[in-house]
Amino acid sequence: MHLNVFTQCSPSPQFKGFWRHPADRTATGYRSLDYWTGVARQLEAACVDALFFADIHGVYDVYQGSWRPAVRQAVQIPSIDPVLVIPALAAVTRRLGFAVTYSTTYHPPYECARLFSSLDHLTGGRIGWNIVTSYLRSATENGLGDFLDHDKRYDRADEYVAVARALWERSWQDGAVVMDAEADMFADPGLVHEIAHRGRWFDVRGPHQCEPSPQRTPVLYQAGASARGLEFAATHAEVVFLTLPDPARGAEQVAQLRAKAAELGRDPRSVKALQGSMVMVAGTREEARRRAEEYVRLWSGEGQLAKWCGWMDVDLAAYPGETPVSEIAGQGSQSFVGFLKRLGPDKEWTVDDVRYLVATARRPRRNSPVTLFGTVEEVADRMEEWLERADVDGFNLMPCPTTQGIDDICRLLIPELQRRGLFRTAYDPQEETLRERYYGAGVRSAQCLPA
Ligand SMILES: Cc1cc2nc3c(=O)[nH]c(=O)nc-3n(C[C@H](O)[C@H](O)[C@H](O)COP(=O)(O)O)c2cc1C
Repeated sequence: MHLNVFTQCSPSPQFKGFWRHPADRTATGYRSLDYWTGVARQLEAACVDALFFADIHGVYDVYQGSWRPAVRQAVQIPSIDPVLVIPALAAVTRRLGFAVTYSTTYHPPYECARLFSSLDHLTGGRIGWNIVTSYLRSATENGLGDFLDHDKRYDRADEYVAVARALWERSWQDGAVVMDAEADMFADPGLVHEIAHRGRWFDVRGPHQCEPSPQRTPVLYQAGASARGLEFAATHAEVVFLTLPDPARGAEQVAQLRAKAAELGRDPRSVKALQGSMVMVAGTREEARRRAEEYVRLWSGEGQLAKWCGWMDVDLAAYPGETPVSEIAGQGSQSFVGFLKRLGPDKEWTVDDVRYLVATARRPRRNSPVTLFGTVEEVADRMEEWLERADVDGFNLMPCPTTQGIDDICRLLIPELQRRGLFRTAYDPQEETLRERYYGAGVRSAQCLPA
């Protein structure tokens, strides 16, 4: 099974309010290399596949038409750029992979290609790109480019990925770097090519600014869950992050994703599906109970509302409570609408329902399929069930609260998974790159449709 740990360089990743946890080191550690190098060493000692960084551009200013609730509750603000952290983590680890989020809407593809080639060189082939199209329109107000509607963002992203991959895969031939001192030639220009891309969104001549890195193309990750997002994932993604509601319905979604990939001409098993789950694992029942109480106490309803409104691109404070949410869909993530549909297929969800759903702290349940909460044995049982019934390839673990959660994953959960023979006890020395960890030693090229 594959295990990623999901985080962000901000004080309270994923779970709002949890920076107040007494043992938390994230609130200040997020901006310190000491903190991150410690986390990376810890995850590598536990043989985790990759540390995965979320990232956004702009601020969550949709709720109440203001960024102030987000600032108050540290909703992905303040945050620092995770890209800068990665080389430092690569320097203190040998095998741990890194996946980092990078927006196709707010950066040019030529810059993207150079950045990921640089990261791939500096990490020795351990980098992945979480391709996002970005849902916050506030980035536009900071001069980062135009905010496009949901599906158009994906259309543009299709071309974006094609450009980046052309730069990585077609610009520099193998053997182009000759370093022939006698001939006074560092690289052979005959083996370096322009990509001469002219498209609907981009004109990029090339050649690529970097020589080929160990993986050439970073491992391509994606998390789209809408119909358009699923098509994008089935086309471009090697690893897909899913937030499935339970193993039975999850199995349908995974099958749909693999079927779509097959329809497009890919090996359906080349799509690695990872279920995203909150992890709150404890040594004993009593400890789990204590954690659940703490969870309710620390939960920030205001923070959750600020985050969800940003995701949805809808201000839930601006509508009468009885308004059906289906009537006020924004241009943010469409996944939330799908999530509500799965939660109550026949229900007409109103603004009041959603406000309540999002803002209310609910005690985690030991038998909940979505959260990995409970004793270590219970959580490991649940993970086995996911693997068997939903046909997922692994998990994208969201530790809660962050510091304690990472400790518990490494000290409690992974040893139990290893005891059960479900997770590696050492990295395979033959698998040098992150891609090889997913596809086996010797697999070098991107395992999705050709660019
Ligand atoms: C596990 C996970 C991590 C994500 N990380 C980010 C992120 O760091 N930055 C971002 O802008 N979007 C992020 N997203 C949002 C997705 O890129 C995408 O916008 C979202 O899943 C909605 O896609 P859809 O509109 O196709 O449903 C993430 C989604 C998931 C499920």
